[in-house]
Amino acid sequence: MFLPELTEACHKAAEAETLKGGGASIERPLRAPSGRSIDGRVLPTVRKGGRKNANIAIRPGSRPQEVDVDMQDDRPVLARPEFPRSSRYDAGWMLGNQMGPNALWLLEWLCERLPIAAGARVLDLGCGKAMTSVFLAKEFGAHVHAVDLWMDPDHNWRRAVEAGVADRVCPLRAEAHALPFAAGYFDAIVSIDAFHYFGTDLLYVDYLARFLRPGGLLGVVVPGLVRPLASGPPLWLTEPQSNGKVFWDDSCRSFLTAEAWRTLWAGSPFVSAVSVDAQPDGWRHWSDFERAIEASGTGLFPSDAEALEKDAGRTMTFLRLLGSRTGVAGENFYDPTLGLRAGAER
Ligand SMILES: C[S@@+](CC[C@H](N)C(=O)[O-])C[C@H]1O[C@@H](n2cnc3c(N)ncnc32)[C@H](O)[C@@H]1O
Repeated sequence: MFLPELTEACHKAAEAETLKGGGASIERPLRAPSGRSIDGRVLPTVRKGGRKNANIAIRPGSRPQEVDVDMQDDRPVLARPEFPRSSRYDAGWMLGNQMGPNALWLLEWLCERLPIAAGARVLDLGCGKAMTSVFLAKEFGAHVHAVDLWMDPDHNWRRAVEAGVADRVCPLRAEAHALPFAAGYFDAIVSIDAFHYFGTDLLYVDYLARFLRPGGLLGVVVPGLVRPLASGPPLWLTEPQSNGKVFWDDSCRSFLTAEAWRTLWAGSPFVSAVSVDAQPDGWRHWSDFERAIEASGTGLFPSDAEALEKDAGRTMTFLRLLGSRTGVAGENFYDPTLGLRAGAER
């Protein structure tokens, strides 16, 4: 998801939330007629059955796609063997609250390498609609600060309450360079599909790491590049798809390679044990979820599936960045009182 679309999409989403006055439940107990969530919204139409691909009815004008949306006990789920925890979540909830790629799949992949202990204090930075915060609270018993800039904390609070994790999720609106937390407060900081918007500054990781206790873990998943684009992005990402949408816009400049992220983080004295790797089949998970969004009609803007399928992982992937907080103390260069404190303000 890219900036100009997102700004417009945020307005649409906020409007829709106001009108709707409630979200699809994450939980199973309330039965609804097949194809509808409990609040009456249309969900992906799927054949009932085991874990097999389902032929989804999609909007007029687009061609039917095979995507993994299955039914279990009349409840549609988006199931992937790679992501067993996420597979238990309601498809309507995931599709209704998505802001691009499937955030739960990405977070579950991150958590394979970033263990979260019960009761851990976790910052979910750029949490969007807080699905990942709910997931961290539910799956690991974490206490999560769900921080986002563009999304309304009132709505994220409602989602946390509906999901039954009101005691473990605290929604806040904050900008990533002006976080209202004490240094050393968090056991872990995670960020899913957001860090590329604010974290490409060489010094940003220094700033963010200051909110972790020594030994605390920093974990990020971002869309990234398989290889450097010396001669620019390939044609199949820059030409309009059949729906008119161009995948590659100006903000895609913030998509970096694993090597570039490694260099950014490894240079910081505030993090150690830095590793960056690419998600196996990341592009396929991305395009399949785009197809599921298309099929369900829950897209905030036109699908990128066609471009991702043409690319087939030659350019685009998801990158997982991990690091551990060292004990080094540092200055906060984003602190507006720094000049005063340093005695430079006279
Ligand atoms: C593509 S959305 C992803 C949201 C969510 N993590 C998910 O995957 O569903 C990117 C999010 O980054 C947040 N974001 C962008 N710039 C930010 C900043 N400077 N400070 C805090 N959050 C920011 C936006 O508010 C937005 O919700």
